[in-house]
Amino acid sequence: MHTFINVQDIGPLKAALQEAAETKKDRFAHSTLGKNKTLLMIFFNNSLRTRLSTQKAAINLGMNVIVLDVNAGAWKLETERGVIMDGDKSEHLLEAIPVMGSYCDIIGIRSFAGLTDRDYDYSETVLNQFIHYSGRPVFAMETATVHPLQAFADLITIEEHKTKARPKVVLTWAPHPKALPQAVPNSFAQWMNAADVDLVITHPEGYELDPRFIGNAKVEYNQMKALEGADFVYAKNWSCPGVTCDDYGKVINKDMSWTIDAAHMAVTDNGKFMHCLPVRRGMIVTDDVIEAPTSLVIPEAANREISAQVVIKRMLQSL
Ligand code: CP
Repeated sequence: MHTFINVQDIGPLKAALQEAAETKKDRFAHSTLGKNKTLLMIFFNNSLRTRLSTQKAAINLGMNVIVLDVNAGAWKLETERGVIMDGDKSEHLLEAIPVMGSYCDIIGIRSFAGLTDRDYDYSETVLNQFIHYSGRPVFAMETATVHPLQAFADLITIEEHKTKARPKVVLTWAPHPKALPQAVPNSFAQWMNAADVDLVITHPEGYELDPRFIGNAKVEYNQMKALEGADFVYAKNWSCPGVTCDDYGKVINKDMSWTIDAAHMAVTDNGKFMHCLPVRRGMIVTDDVIEAPTSLVIPEAANREISAQVVIKRMLQSL
């Protein structure tokens, strides 16, 4: 595997889930595979789970790990080509990337959407520069439009907790005070489309995701109707994707009736609550729902180690 961005990169999901289950049974079975190999994790944005789980996964495989927080100690990087660099950015990504590539064997990159220019974000400019100029396998640790390590961990979690061959999975928008990217819902929808589940997406009007991520999912604007009979409720906020309106990256709705509470969960089929974390209690979900035995947020986060380990292992095997 040379890149890990979309669900297609992992190949057949059944095999990937089997590999994840084997990894979970013995996470040190390949502890020498990464000997003398180095993973470079590059963060343009904050992280708790991705930082720790990916590092742990690489250590399980015997790798050395370097973590670079670009905004805390590195030179400020210019990402646009063709600009006169007379501002506060001292180095261009086009030099920095091959330099970084020369110090490692595999690169993980976190670079969020700027949420001001849809075309720029959806063309994945920063991620593609790393793919083209680093000379190394590159995996997304949440980029402008995708978060595949999260979606893979979500799928592993659903596989572990499902009680039906084909569960109903509902991706529901929920309110948030700040504008958040669409990477998590995009990838979740993409991976669920490829999985053996019935996917329903619910959100207020104006929050329609990009059609290439919606795929064959049913879009239902009535949240309560969408949640009826759900086996899994995946809550997430996202800002306006700019598909059906011109407010790309903006908060266009703060309707608190979309917060997942006991009344929402009551119409599900003993549904399990999921969220990628970090989560704002009282906005996305109420305390009682996230603390209930039906909440999967902690096992879901723990599975981030497993999804990262499967991806890094496959990249090591293809070096
Ligand atoms: N879910 C997730 O990616 O968490 P972090 O932003 O803390 O890495």
